[in-house]
Amino acid sequence: MREILPFNDDWRFFAKFTPDLIHKKQPGQPVRLPHNAADLPYNYFDENSWHQKYCYQKSFSLENKDNNQVYSLIFDGAMANNKVYLNGTHLTSHTNGYTPFEVSIGEPLSDGENLLTVVLDGSENPEIPPFGGLIDYLTYAGIYRDVWLKSVPKTSIAEIKAETLNVLERQKSLIIWSKIHGDVKIDPPMTVTHTLRHPEGNLIAETSSVITEQEITLHIDGLVDIELWDIDNPILYNLTTHLTSKDIDDLITTTIGFRTAEFTPKGFFLNGKSLQILGLNRHQSYPYEGYAMGRRAQEKDAEILKYDLGCNLVRTSHYPQSPWFLDHCDRIGLLVFEEIPGWQHIGEGAWKERTLDNVERMIRRDWNHPSIILWGVRINESHDDHDFYAETNALSRKLDPTRQTGGVRYITDSEFLEDVYTMNDFIQGNEELPGVNHQRIPLRKQREVTGLNKSVPYLVTEFNGHTFPTKRTDHEQRQVEHVERYLSILDKAFGDDEISGCIGWCFADYNTHKDFGAGDRICHHGVMDMFRNPKFASYVYSSQKNPYEHPILKPVTYWARGERNIGGVLPLIILTNCDYIELQYGSDLAATEYPRRDIYPNLPHAPVIFDHNSFGEEEMGHWKKNWENVTFNGFVDDEVIICFSMVGNPVASRMEVNADWRWLKSDENDETRLVVKALDQIGNVLPYFDDPLTISITENGRLIGPDLINFRGGIATFWVRSTPLRGPMDITILSPRFPTMSYRLYVI
Ligand code: GAL
Repeated sequence: MREILPFNDDWRFFAKFTPDLIHKKQPGQPVRLPHNAADLPYNYFDENSWHQKYCYQKSFSLENKDNNQVYSLIFDGAMANNKVYLNGTHLTSHTNGYTPFEVSIGEPLSDGENLLTVVLDGSENPEIPPFGGLIDYLTYAGIYRDVWLKSVPKTSIAEIKAETLNVLERQKSLIIWSKIHGDVKIDPPMTVTHTLRHPEGNLIAETSSVITEQEITLHIDGLVDIELWDIDNPILYNLTTHLTSKDIDDLITTTIGFRTAEFTPKGFFLNGKSLQILGLNRHQSYPYEGYAMGRRAQEKDAEILKYDLGCNLVRTSHYPQSPWFLDHCDRIGLLVFEEIPGWQHIGEGAWKERTLDNVERMIRRDWNHPSIILWGVRINESHDDHDFYAETNALSRKLDPTRQTGGVRYITDSEFLEDVYTMNDFIQGNEELPGVNHQRIPLRKQREVTGLNKSVPYLVTEFNGHTFPTKRTDHEQRQVEHVERYLSILDKAFGDDEISGCIGWCFADYNTHKDFGAGDRICHHGVMDMFRNPKFASYVYSSQKNPYEHPILKPVTYWARGERNIGGVLPLIILTNCDYIELQYGSDLAATEYPRRDIYPNLPHAPVIFDHNSFGEEEMGHWKKNWENVTFNGFVDDEVIICFSMVGNPVASRMEVNADWRWLKSDENDETRLVVKALDQIGNVLPYFDDPLTISITENGRLIGPDLINFRGGIATFWVRSTPLRGPMDITILSPRFPTMSYRLYVI
């Protein structure tokens, strides 16, 4: 039988590697995986300070070791240049920090206690992608994903690939390729059986065959009443593969979806229906903790992208991301453009070989995810390299002929070797184009970029980013411009049927090298800050959602008379999906405005803008008197479905704490985010409130980051992590301005 068990507990960590750790058990720092080798401050750190070797040890014995089983360890991700030793014997090395590797532990395994040692290197070794040049992100040393102990029969299922066929026809087909590990002839007859089940468990189809070779491909045809996997109905079917003989019994279950996904010169089609891609780029990093966040933190990011922001796609810039994240994208219906590690630089021979290996490992790990619709097989923004990219494309097509390839570039007229011309179009940063002095062009037409004389499948994979970095706490006028840039770029994309859509740079701010960002080691390029708190621009996305399900009304203002240059709040953009907005200022100034389709004709939901024309001459006089309160009423079908007010005299009144969830699992590294808000008298965040606060936590919890922090723009955010100790976890928040607050979580 197969067993795959978490192997994350009871590791010892050594911040300094010494060779004796390979064969000698030492008392290190007790840790549980995922683990970040060097915790970092929020900003202004020296990113070179953790460029060194680290080590992990784990002592274990396999109590019920079965000599008929084969044992191995699976590392989902460890950064980087990893070397694994068991009882002093070197078992394997794996250079890449983003792809999984499996190591057989059969041979040196003793019946008593075993010593496992993992040595890894936090330096940016130029021999390994993405390193060798500058990169605009950090890679965080550590065994930062899960490790699993796998035990399977001597002959077992190594891999499954399920390809769907005739998906848009009534009778659909499934082709299942499986690869067997071990001797398939030892114990004949050996049989492979595939069973397809509905999510509720009822049997749909079954096929079976005797196997005599390592690989076998079986077809299931005539599948009827199958629902398509779609972003609104992400239905996953269970495919079980069973390998049996007299002595062998191995079984794995994969989830699959039936869908078609195709980029064409006339846009993207999901299940034959046109879908405008509305996406964001995600780095998998978090403040203080780098990459080492557990399952639910990964899933939360997918949920923020899908549910809060209303995105239909995420690009895993610039590497394969956590399996937890991708599994959740399958479950919630968030499309994925997945990409190999790299950033502008292409290395020499061995480096290129490693990239090919990365392409292969990424595709083999993830080919059964229905959410993944495109493989990125070019080093992000690298120059053309015919032979190299002909090879990455050929490899991708050979491994997975069902998905198209993309290769992200920022150069124009680049050699088109992929199936989709994927372009980082930062033209909006160029304000001095000849003839259009100081006018911004949101996006280019595809032929201007490709230089081709025909239209091709085309997707904008980045925009904005460094062309207009904006902090959540930036001045209101900058935020307004940030919003306007997003509005005009998305509007342009929606209006051009030769652009399949666009993916903004980026989802959340991220730590980076000194050569990028604001010098504080942060690229403030997100529509959210590093803690996933929204900036105004994020509402450009969320306001495109269906108003009946998610009414949105977000005025792009802090509502203060003197924040903007000269003063006032006009023109005032309201990001909304309402039919119209009524504004009530004080008691006697009111106006109604409708979405500005004249400026943004293509967006599903254009914003409403109040300006001087919204009010009569006489009424304008009211603005000059006392600074008053304001209320906005949002109407859909002539009924108010959302209301939002702001006060003219905000006073710090209370603190509010919310957690993403209130219970945590004790048997894994489970984290929840806590967001503390400083609020005014009607519950709005105070945008420039920066007081300090102290956090303490009971012993069954771990605070991620320092315990003395400050509100940044009225919001203080931190994560807490579970420990194996069950019971209530109390978090106390002490602030000089507000009464002390206690917040209880439960570790179960
Ligand atoms: C792109 C790059 C991203 C990020 C972005 C900032 O050129 O692909 O990784 O650096 O610029 O705008």
